[in-house]
Amino acid sequence: MTSSTPALRVEGLGVRYGALVALEGVSWQVHAGEILGIIGPNGAGKSSCYDATTHMVTRDGKVWLDGQDVTAVPPYGLAPLGLKRAFQQNAFFATLSVLDNMVAVLAREAGTGLLESLFLPWREAARRRALEEEAAALLERFGVPRDMHALRPGNIPYGSQRMLSIALAFGRGARVLMLDEPAAGLGGADMERLAELLRGLRAESVAIVVIEHHMDLIMSVADRIVVLEQGRCLATGTPHEIQNDHRVLEAYLGQAA
Ligand SMILES: Nc1ncnc2c1ncn2[C@@H]1O[C@H](COP(=O)(O)OP(=O)(O)O)[C@@H](O)[C@H]1O
Ligand SMILES: [Mg+2]
Repeated sequence: MTSSTPALRVEGLGVRYGALVALEGVSWQVHAGEILGIIGPNGAGKSSCYDATTHMVTRDGKVWLDGQDVTAVPPYGLAPLGLKRAFQQNAFFATLSVLDNMVAVLAREAGTGLLESLFLPWREAARRRALEEEAAALLERFGVPRDMHALRPGNIPYGSQRMLSIALAFGRGARVLMLDEPAAGLGGADMERLAELLRGLRAESVAIVVIEHHMDLIMSVADRIVVLEQGRCLATGTPHEIQNDHRVLEAYLGQAA
C-alpha cells in the first residue's frame, strides 16, 4: 500500500507453552493510518500473537517500531516508544473514579507518581485542575460522557468500560495501538461507537492492530486482515479478499459446528 517504514512490523513470531506450539513463523506489518485486523478461530494463537508482539511472553522472532529493532525492549519500555496496548479484560483501579483512573495515566506519562497525582499539594492545585480537564476531554473523546466521570469504573455500563480501557491504554497518544478483542461482549450500538472511535484514530495517523474472534467489527473497519489458524498465518488480504477465501471460510465453518 505504501513504501514508507511500517509503524510496527513483526517477523517470524513464535510462542511455545511447553510442548505446545501456540504460534509459529507469523509475520505482518501495519502502517500509520492503517487498521490491521488479526482474526482466527478460538485457540488460533491471536492472544499469543498479541503477547509476543508486546513482549509479554518469551518468544522467537523480531519486532520493529518505526524501523527501530525493539525485540529486546521489555514490555514496560514499549509504551514510552509509542506502542500502547489495552487488555482483553478491563484493568482499572476499582476504587478510583473514572476520572481519576484517567488522571493517573496522564500523570504517570508526565512522570508524576499515582499517589502524587491524587494528593498534589495545594500549590499544585492548578496543575491538578489542568490534568483533570485534560483527562475529562480525553474521556469524552473516547465516548465516556462527563456524567460518568465521578463514578467508579465498575458502576458504568459495560460498553463504556470498554471505551474507558481503550482511553487508558491510549493516554496522551500512541503511534501504535493494540487491542485484544475490544468488542467482546458489546452489543450493536456499542460496537458501532467502537468502530467510529477506531476510524477516528486512524484518521489521526495512529496505526491500529485489532485482534478479534468475531468478524463483524473487523470486516467493517480493517484495511487489511491477517487470519491465524493453529498458530500459523492462513491468509492475508483486504476484508473483501478474506471474506471470499475458501480456506478462511473452512477454518471458521470447521469450528462452528
Ligand atoms: N498460558 C498458556 N499455557 C499453555 N497453553 C496456552 C497458554 N495460553 C494459550 N495457550 C494455548 O495456546 C494456543 C493459542 O491460544 P491463544 O493465543 O490464547 O489463542 P486465541 O487468542 O486465538 O484464542 C491454544 O491452544 C491455547 O490453549
Ligand atoms: Mg484470545
